[in-house]
Amino acid sequence: MDLLVTTAEQRPDLVPLLGDFHDWPSFMNEDPVAPLYFDDLEEAFPGYVLIGIDRNRPDRLVAKGYSVPFTWDRDPDESLPAGGWDEVILTATRDRLAGRRGTLVSALEISVRPDLRGTGLSSVMLAEMRRNAADRGHTSLVAPVRPNAKHRHPGVSIVDYANLRRDDGLPVDPWLRVHARAGGRIAGTAVRAMTIAGTLAEWRAWTGLPFDATGPVEVPGALVPVHCDVEHDHAVYCEPCVWVHHRLM
Ligand SMILES: CC(C)(COP(=O)(O)OP(=O)(O)OC[C@H]1O[C@@H](n2cnc3c(N)ncnc32)[C@H](O)[C@@H]1OP(=O)(O)O)[C@@H](O)C(=O)NCCC(=O)NCCS
Repeated sequence: MDLLVTTAEQRPDLVPLLGDFHDWPSFMNEDPVAPLYFDDLEEAFPGYVLIGIDRNRPDRLVAKGYSVPFTWDRDPDESLPAGGWDEVILTATRDRLAGRRGTLVSALEISVRPDLRGTGLSSVMLAEMRRNAADRGHTSLVAPVRPNAKHRHPGVSIVDYANLRRDDGLPVDPWLRVHARAGGRIAGTAVRAMTIAGTLAEWRAWTGLPFDATGPVEVPGALVPVHCDVEHDHAVYCEPCVWVHHRLM
């Protein structure tokens, strides 16, 4: 493949391709914070949106990478936002309203076209995201990583999961492994990286599950159980993340 990785700033004509594929579990579309980034990214952060295409098939998206600058005044090796992905977007939005330039860049998502997964493209996209942040003068890229095999182990705490290693010392989780190979260091975990709350009727519509008993509910694609409260007619999902720090200089 003759891969071209560019930005929405350099190639605004390619932005419509970003909708080519989208395969998150549907309940994840209900995060109330996400639209602050995704509804306006062409205007707000085009230089931080990566678009990968095959020059020989420029009509379809091969991979995409979303990132955003945000203000964080502490040492990323010592602490990163407890509110993970949501907090990054909220802070980036407040920076924008105040006319501030963020101090760190955070990755928000890298996704590869489903039929091209397993071919090494994610590491190319991550390398491009690191390079893009460095080219813009940033010294760190951080990532509130959503480990891509954690959903198979919803009962394991995020701390224990982040510490799982193979015999070669690399993380057991494939996506964490890509970050580690690229030079990223696990800097911590957060237990409320994305919070999604809804009535039980909403959760039934989002998942097709009954949500008829109080207690933890395992939802396909969720990294941890969703907390269901029948008496009070709501359920809440707190998605954890693993913070990874990529030092760029
Ligand atoms: C996570 C994702 C970006 C990885 O991209 P990819 O191009 O398929 O990954 P690679 O080909 O670079 O493979 C990376 C590692 O994952 C492994 N892998 C790939 N697909 C896998 C699968 N379905 N199950 C288990 N391991 C898998 C590869 O073997 C490789 O492991 P290695 O370290 O032993 O070599 C991709 O699966 C994806 O787009 N998923 C949906 C979006 C997502 O979850 N993004 C991450 C959170 S933002």
